[in-house]
Amino acid sequence: MIDLRSDTVTQPTEGMRRAIAEAAVGDEQKREDPTVLELERRVAELLGHEDAVFLPTATMANQIALRLLSRPGDVLLAERTSHVVIYEYGGPAVHAGLMVHGLSGRSGRVTAEELRAAVPERTKAADQAPALVSLENTHNSAGGRVWPLSELSKTVSTARELGLAVHLDGARLLNAAVALGCAPSEIAACADTVTLCLSKGLGCPLGALLATSAPLVERARVEKHLFGGALRQAGIVAAAGVYALDNHVALLADDHARARRLAEGWHTAGLPVDLDGVETNFVQLDVEPLGLSKWDVVAALKEAGVGVSNTVHPTRLRAVTHLDLSDEDIEQAIALAPEALAARV
Ligand SMILES: Cc1ncc(COP(=O)(O)O)c(C=O)c1O
Repeated sequence: MIDLRSDTVTQPTEGMRRAIAEAAVGDEQKREDPTVLELERRVAELLGHEDAVFLPTATMANQIALRLLSRPGDVLLAERTSHVVIYEYGGPAVHAGLMVHGLSGRSGRVTAEELRAAVPERTKAADQAPALVSLENTHNSAGGRVWPLSELSKTVSTARELGLAVHLDGARLLNAAVALGCAPSEIAACADTVTLCLSKGLGCPLGALLATSAPLVERARVEKHLFGGALRQAGIVAAAGVYALDNHVALLADDHARARRLAEGWHTAGLPVDLDGVETNFVQLDVEPLGLSKWDVVAALKEAGVGVSNTVHPTRLRAVTHLDLSDEDIEQAIALAPEALAARV
């Protein structure tokens, strides 16, 4: 199957497997794993923060960040289809005692005006109040959409003006940096806490980092224990992260070019694809004009050997490019999908 369901389906490359096999390791809980230490240092520097903590998943990174930036009973503002709101099993309520106030956003981006409207004038000192906003870049449910730097800066400065802490779910932040042609720190340094995921476009088997200030990283390490995420010889996995930073970041541009080629190929073949929305490694296919259900389309494409997956949108599916796909795979997907769907309509 040409697996376009997600960029999380990748297998470690040969070079990555070698780096894993040869990793220098130690007890990570005792801060004695040299590879974890190196990865944390490198990611902190890359994202323009003082320090970073290595974690098993981006979900844990997000949830720890929310705990660091809030108190139980606070209100979390976030675009309503963002990962922390719809895919983390109510984590903001469960782990941090937060109430979520979902914002409509624009292509996954929270606007400064929405933020202002969501933070009411206080009527008494003890008012229940928004304490933080979580932003997502690139935005998964919106189709891998990117925040223009000026818009990000406007939303963040408005958040600051309103007294809100800012978390950035940058699981795919390096895709955003590649799309914008900027340094990752230009996107990440403005937030209080930033999540970076290793197991998506970077092709690692697992792992994520939370970057923030040195005092918050100290607290995050305690939270990591509380979540049961404190590890031992974690350099085995961190080595994949170091390898990916050295070897896979440059390949993200190929993923983006392949997503564009796929979108153009499908569009030319008459499939309903929003070309303007293709900014990184996601292509969204709208099934409504085809007169088919999402599940019919998923099944027809699967039968033809093309894997696509569902989105939160009522009529859109997604195809995601990644490290394990070649130009040839994309050309094949371009040829196979219209044929398979023509047979169904
Ligand atoms: C934007 C975003 N944040 C966080 C996550 C969570 O990643 P993980 O599976 O490592 O917990 C995902 C996973 O798809 C994601 O797309």
